[in-house]
Amino acid sequence: MLILKGTISQMQIQLRGWTGSKNMPKKGPKVVVIGAGIAGVGAAGKLLTQGLTDVQIIEASSQPGGRIRGSLFGKSTIDEGAQYIHGASTKNPVYQLAKEHDLLQETHDRLFPNLLQKLLEAIPREKLLLKKPIKQIQWNGSFESGGSSVYSVRVVCEDGDHILADHIIVSISLGCLKANGQAFFQPRLPEQKLSAIQSLGFGTMNKIYLEYETPFWDENTDVIGLVWEDETPFSVQKPNLTEWWKHVPVFYVIRPTERYGHVLVGTISGKEAEFVESLNPQEVASRCTYLFRQFTGRSSLPELKSVYVTKWFSNPYTRGSYSHISITSTGAMIDQLAEPLPQATEGSSSPMLQVLFAGEATHRSYHSTTHGALLSGWREATRLIDHYSTK
Ligand SMILES: Cc1cc2nc3c(=O)[nH]c(=O)nc-3n(C[C@H](O)[C@H](O)[C@H](O)COP(=O)(O)OP(=O)(O)OC[C@H]3O[C@@H](n4cnc5c(N)ncnc54)[C@H](O)[C@@H]3O)c2cc1C
Ligand SMILES: *[C@@H]1O[C@H](CO)[C@@H](O)[C@H](O)[C@H]1NC(C)=O
Ligand SMILES: *[C@@H]1O[C@H](CO)[C@@H](O)[C@H](O)[C@H]1NC(C)=O
Repeated sequence: MLILKGTISQMQIQLRGWTGSKNMPKKGPKVVVIGAGIAGVGAAGKLLTQGLTDVQIIEASSQPGGRIRGSLFGKSTIDEGAQYIHGASTKNPVYQLAKEHDLLQETHDRLFPNLLQKLLEAIPREKLLLKKPIKQIQWNGSFESGGSSVYSVRVVCEDGDHILADHIIVSISLGCLKANGQAFFQPRLPEQKLSAIQSLGFGTMNKIYLEYETPFWDENTDVIGLVWEDETPFSVQKPNLTEWWKHVPVFYVIRPTERYGHVLVGTISGKEAEFVESLNPQEVASRCTYLFRQFTGRSSLPELKSVYVTKWFSNPYTRGSYSHISITSTGAMIDQLAEPLPQATEGSSSPMLQVLFAGEATHRSYHSTTHGALLSGWREATRLIDHYSTK
C-alpha cells in the first residue's frame, strides 16, 4: 500500500516538480537526515519511496535504531529501550506495520529490532552513514559545492567532514537539543524555539535486568512488587538518591522462559534512574538480592547470575529516555519545536524548509512513543514531498 502511494507521488513530482518548478534546485533537492532512530529512518524511507532520492542519513552511533536497541543478555536479546506498542489500534502505524510484517506473532521483546529492520529495507546501505556524529548545523547560508550548485545548509561532522544540503531533517533527541541546541545551530535558533527546547520535559527511565540460574518465583508469577510501608511516592519530601531501590516499583518476569531463561526486568525513573547509572552493576545486583531476601524472609534465596543496567542518561546521543509535558511546558511548545526554519517571518527571500524537526518530542499527541516518532518522521518527509509536488 505504501509503495503504491509512493509511485503516484513520484509521478506527481516528476510531472510537476522536476520540470521547471521555481522551488526546484537544479539536480533535485538534497536531503540530509540527522539521526537514524525510527523517526529518521521513517523519514528517509518515505522520501526515497516517494521520489526524493537524494537522501543521506547521518548517525552518530555504530548502529541505527537510537532508542530502539537490543542487547545480548542471558540466553537472548533484550530491549534496552522501546519494548511495548502503546495503543494497539489500526490508527497506530507501528502496530499496523508490525501486523503487516507478521511480527505480532513473535514474543513482543524482539518486535522493535525486527520492525526497524523492515523500515531499513527501504534504505540502500550507502545512504546510511554510521559513526558520524555531527557537531554543527550551519543554515541560512549559500554554500557552494565543487560544481555549480549552491546549498543553504552545511552540516559539520565531528571528524571534520562537511556535508551540504538543501534540506535537513533533525531527529536527534530533545535531550541532545537541550544539551547542544545553542552550539549546534549557526545562526542561533530563534528565541521561541530555544525556549520550547528548554521548557519541554525530557526525563530518564532505565531498565534493570536480572538473570537467575534458578527462579525464586513460581511459574504463575508475572510481577514481583516490593511495597514499602512507611512511604508513598507522594510523601517523600527530599529524594534520597542512595535509596534508589525504593523507586523500582515492580519487577516483571520476562517470557517465554525457554528463550530468555529466568530473567526479571525492573524500571526506574527520575533522578534515581540517573543515579543508578553511576553505580557498579554488582552493587545493583547485591542490593536486589538483599531486598528479595529481606522481603521474602528467605535468606537462602539464590544470588544473581548476571545483571544489566541501561544508561540512557549518560548516553551522549540520547541524554535521557523520552519527553514529557512538564510543569513548565505546553502543547504549543511542541508545535514550536516542530516548526521548520526559517520561520515565515525571517527573511522571506531565503529558501524555505531548510531545517525540519522530527523525533518523538515533536509529536503533539504521541510524544514519548515509537509511533509518535515514526509519525513525526513521516510528517516531515511529507512536508518536503508536498513542497515539491504542489507548487
Ligand atoms: C527505556 C525506554 C523504554 C521505552 N519504552 C517504549 C515502549 O515500550 N514503547 C514505545 O512506543 N516507546 C518506548 N520508548 C520511547 C521510544 O523508544 C522513543 O520514543 C523512540 O524510539 C524515539 O525515536 P526517535 O527517532 O525520535 O529518537 P532516537 O531513537 O533517539 O533517534 C535519534 C538518533 O539520533 C542520533 N544522534 C544523536 N545525536 C547525534 C549527533 N550529534 N550526530 C548524529 N546523530 C546523532 C542518535 O544516535 C539516535 O540514533 C522507550 C524509550 C526508552 C529510553
Ligand atoms: C539516605 O539513605 C542512606 C541509605 O539508606 C542512609 O544511610 C542515609 O542516612 C540517608 N540520607 C538521608 C539524608 O536521609
Ligand atoms: C537569513 O538570511 C536572510 C537573507 O540573507 C536574512 O535576511 C535573515 O535575517 C537571515 N535569518 C537568520 C535567522 O539569520
